[in-house]
Amino acid sequence: MSTKGKRDFRPMLHFTPESGWINDPNGLVYENGNYHLFAQYFHEPHWGPMHWCHAVSRDLIHWEHLPIALAPDSLGMIFSGSAVYDTENSSGLGEGRAPIVAMYTSHGDTEQQSIAFSTDLIHFTPYDGNPVIENKTLPDFRDPKLFRHPLGGWGVVMAAGDRVVFYRSENLKEWEKTGEFGPGGNLSKGVWECPDLFPLTLDGKEYWILLVSMGANEENRGSRTQYFIGAFDGKTFTCAQPFDHTEFIDQSFDHYAGVTFDHTPGGEKLMVAWCANWVYANSLPTGDFCGQMTFARRFSLVQTPKGVRLGGSPVTDGIFEKEAASGKEGTLPGEVFRLTVRGNGTGKAVLFNDAGEEFVFGVNQAGEMFIDRRRAGARDFDEHFSSDRYGIISATRFFDGGWEMDLYFDHSVTEIYADQGTRTFTQLVYPNAPYTCFRLEGGAETAVLRV
Ligand code: FRU
Repeated sequence: MSTKGKRDFRPMLHFTPESGWINDPNGLVYENGNYHLFAQYFHEPHWGPMHWCHAVSRDLIHWEHLPIALAPDSLGMIFSGSAVYDTENSSGLGEGRAPIVAMYTSHGDTEQQSIAFSTDLIHFTPYDGNPVIENKTLPDFRDPKLFRHPLGGWGVVMAAGDRVVFYRSENLKEWEKTGEFGPGGNLSKGVWECPDLFPLTLDGKEYWILLVSMGANEENRGSRTQYFIGAFDGKTFTCAQPFDHTEFIDQSFDHYAGVTFDHTPGGEKLMVAWCANWVYANSLPTGDFCGQMTFARRFSLVQTPKGVRLGGSPVTDGIFEKEAASGKEGTLPGEVFRLTVRGNGTGKAVLFNDAGEEFVFGVNQAGEMFIDRRRAGARDFDEHFSSDRYGIISATRFFDGGWEMDLYFDHSVTEIYADQGTRTFTQLVYPNAPYTCFRLEGGAETAVLRV
């Protein structure tokens, strides 16, 4: 029996389409107090000919839907890409007002890169000189992520099969290739997708971060996003001290294709990711919509005992600030809450309901942080979702000693932040009845509940 549509699983504080399908976030850009989010979109609740839908928010939590921004044209479907606020009108596409310029993959017989522009920031016009980066040979050549080039003008990083490629431009229309990174240095399986490149500073030193989403594969348990820390000399990325195994930006199953916003106040690096996994994304039990985004994450670098790593915190300013309870057990106030669990050694926290379902997280015997959603709720909609392979996962920590796992719960989306965000677990759960209680076991010592 299918559970599709049985319960309203729509999250309240995470972006979802009104109806239909979304996958990757696209075109993330800030202008004058507004965060614009575009996404891969199709009007039915499954993947189909890709459009870009569009929404805007002032706090990255509450979103207003705007008209569809881009629809398939003679060059193909509108695959993933990015956008910048071209404040100096370097593109000349602004006609007296600074435009937002979007760059995306035209997915036709091959994958080529196109641009579109808007001055009212609602209606987008594809540029009549498209494609701006041609491709007649490569089967995979997509997901252009624009960035402000450190030597002036614009840069773009794109995925090209088993590597990323870098281009530079003065006007967003004419592009020149400057370099490549990969396959040397790669530590993961999967086709390269949705890269991002940006600098972050730690103790006065600048590092460049390269994100690469790795197409679904068995070894990674589906879709995961890998990161590298290195340097960018204006032409290419190098990794002087490579990691000895793959570092992912999230340790769980439902965090993919995340990229950062352009032009944020103070240059903050804020990322939003698609909260799903290609292994089962098309069969989620949510009814007439399918797909949701994660909270925005504010990236930072963290000095850990094992070296510099990517960390961060969720952008939840102004919510979850009221303390509702604390202790080793308690009742849950509804389907939106935050539970911060502190512990020492092996221990776990359990959220449970009257239907005998439970979502479990904590630290295991090996000292690894883990989540277990195998018995957390509906499981009949997909053979993988609650299986041993896709239902439980753990990760070693960069830090020793006492621990804190900060869980944010929103109907069907759970995000856990730990160890300054060097460990995060983002996953979907579909309890058939709301979780009404929590309890702590073992070394999980105390929890603070906030609403
Ligand atoms: C990543 C991805 C991108 C592509 C888009 C198509 O999830 O496969 O590489 O542009 O989705 O919807």
